[in-house]
Amino acid sequence: MGEVDSAFIQIPENRPKLSIIQAEGIPVINLSPIIDNTVQDSSAIESLVKEIASACKEWGFFQVTNHGVPLNLRLRIEEASKVFFAQSLEEKRKLTIDDIGFPGYQDTEHTKNVRDWKEVFDFLSKDPTLIPLNSDEHDDRVTRWTNPSPQYPPHFKVIIEEYIKEMEKVGFKLLELIALSLGVEAKRFEEFFIKNQTSFLRLNHYPPCPYPHLALGVGPHKDSGVLTILAQDEVGGLQVKRKTDQQWILVKPTPDAYIINVGDIIQIWSNDAYESVEHRAMVNTEKGRFSIPFFFNPGHDTEVKPLEELINEQNPSKYRPYKWGKFLIHRKDSNFKKQDVENLQI
Ligand code: SIN
Ligand code: FE2
Repeated sequence: MGEVDSAFIQIPENRPKLSIIQAEGIPVINLSPIIDNTVQDSSAIESLVKEIASACKEWGFFQVTNHGVPLNLRLRIEEASKVFFAQSLEEKRKLTIDDIGFPGYQDTEHTKNVRDWKEVFDFLSKDPTLIPLNSDEHDDRVTRWTNPSPQYPPHFKVIIEEYIKEMEKVGFKLLELIALSLGVEAKRFEEFFIKNQTSFLRLNHYPPCPYPHLALGVGPHKDSGVLTILAQDEVGGLQVKRKTDQQWILVKPTPDAYIINVGDIIQIWSNDAYESVEHRAMVNTEKGRFSIPFFFNPGHDTEVKPLEELINEQNPSKYRPYKWGKFLIHRKDSNFKKQDVENLQI
């Protein structure tokens, strides 16, 4: 990745202005009232729900502390990720799933047709070959999604699996808070995840880049799933588009916190009460950066549409229903351009 390669060059309006990086804290939310099971303080939970509601409305992004994920496990997966990416390209490419490049290793990811300055390793939380599909929806491209079996570093797969379990726990807790904040039953979203899930963990490595003013680690995009739970290292580079003035705001690394953002599905479930917000990752000339997002996504058979409880004459449904599984399959198809939520708007 030495010389300027035009595949990585962003269109002028998407190039980051390195000189005017604004850093403002996205909200930081302390989850201890729901993590510490001995405390059942209903007023603490009520104010937590309010904080979640305002963070989702104002920013679409927030950080959480006291989330219950053991620090030691995070340190282990961060270390394993570094050791994994330090291998030769030839070794890593042995874990590339041919033709669709998912899950497994990938070093040619694109966001909106511009190549991202990064390499990734994806691992599904549930093996999709074990998911029963209705025969009329059967598509053998789904059953070809099979997790890779990395042999190095030692215990890599076990660490990933253990970490994914913790991410799911946080994901379900956050979904309860989000449901309450929307005025629906706490367990309202569970049904979309219980039978199966299409969640996956991604390890990102952004190597140092000689032209960070032209390229991006990940170009501007919104996340298409339900929630993203991101661990970023101390280097930093994630920027979020602030809703009030459309400025790119740097999310400063906070040790042992997780960055949460609501994806397109929550935007649709909430009928636009909460919005999925654009974000991107910058790179720099000095230091490689590592981040670990967990994409918390529902089962293939989920029909995504605004929650019935939230729809009425004053607030009619803004979206046409769509099948999440079909959307996913098409998205992984190289001929398919990412379908923006806007395309589903009525
Ligand atoms: C992403 O949004 O895909 C990753 C963001 C990050 O690495 O900070
Ligand atoms: Fe993202």
